[in-house]
Amino acid sequence: TRSLLGLKDLSQQEIQSILDRAAYWEQHPSKTHDLLKGRFISNMFFENSTRTRTSFEVAQKRLGAEVINFTAAASSVEKGESIYDTVRTLESMGIDAGVIRLKPIGLLAQMAEKIKVPLINAGDGNNEHPTQALLDLYTMQKHFGSLKGLKVAIIGDILHSRVARSNLYALRKFGAQVVFCAPENMQAAELDVEYVSMEQAINADVVMMLRVQLERHAAGMLKSAEAYRESYGLTVERAAAMQPHAIIMHPAPVNRDVEIDSELVEAPTSKIFPQMSNGVPVRMAVVERAMN
Ligand code: CP
Repeated sequence: TRSLLGLKDLSQQEIQSILDRAAYWEQHPSKTHDLLKGRFISNMFFENSTRTRTSFEVAQKRLGAEVINFTAAASSVEKGESIYDTVRTLESMGIDAGVIRLKPIGLLAQMAEKIKVPLINAGDGNNEHPTQALLDLYTMQKHFGSLKGLKVAIIGDILHSRVARSNLYALRKFGAQVVFCAPENMQAAELDVEYVSMEQAINADVVMMLRVQLERHAAGMLKSAEAYRESYGLTVERAAAMQPHAIIMHPAPVNRDVEIDSELVEAPTSKIFPQMSNGVPVRMAVVERAMN
C-alpha cells in the first residue's frame, strides 16, 4: 500500500517527491480535478481537529474524490465500539483509503498491519504528524530555497508534540540543524537533540513555536500561563531580537499570549497562516500518492 504512517522511515527522496508534487498542485490552482473521480476516502477523526481535517477534505474534493467524514463523537464509538472495529467497518463498506487521527500510541501501526486500504496518519498520539511536518518543510523550502544547513529551533511543549518529532526526523534527512528549547518538565528524554536557552533559540533561521497542549498535561504541569510566557513565550521583545531573515512558525491552534504574543501571529515574518494554505497542496500530494 501507499500508506503514510510517519516520516521517520521515509527517505529524503520520497519526502522531496511529495513536496515537488505539492508545488505542482499549488501551481495548478483550478478548484477541482477529475483524478480521483469515483474513489472514496474516509476522514476518521478520533481526536478533534480543524486544520488537518478540513484541509484533507479540501484536498480530496479538489482531486475529485468522494469524501466520507467520520467523527467519533457522533458515532458508535460513543457506545463503546473500538477504533479498530470502526476502521474495519468503514473498510468493509468499500472506502479506498482512510485518513486517521487517534490518541492511543502504537495503535495506528498495529492497524496498518490488518487494514488493507492505505492509511494516512493525520496525527498519532505524541508519535508523528507527518502531513504537518511535510507542510512545514514545504513552507521552509518555499521561503529559503533549501533546507540544508538551516537552523530550526522548536520551542515549547516537546514532550507532547508529534509535530516536533515528525519535523525532527524529516529536517535531519535534509541536513537541517534542529535544536529544542523547553522547560524541563516538557522535554522528551528519548530524543537525541540538543536543548538550548531561549536566547539561543530565537537566533535560529526558523523559530517554530509549539502549542502548550493542556489537554494532554498531567495536573499542575503548567503552573501559570503568564510565567510560561515570561520564560518560553515568543514575546514582541524576543521577536525583535530575531535575525532579519528569520521566520516564525506554529502548527496552530495557537494559545495567543501564552506561547506566542497575539501581535506576532499575523506579523510579516510569521508563516502561521501560509502554513495552513500550504497544507492543501501538500495533502493533495499525499492523498494522490496513497490512491495511485
Ligand atoms: N495543526 C493541526 O494539526 O491543527 P488541527 O489540530 O486543528 O488539525
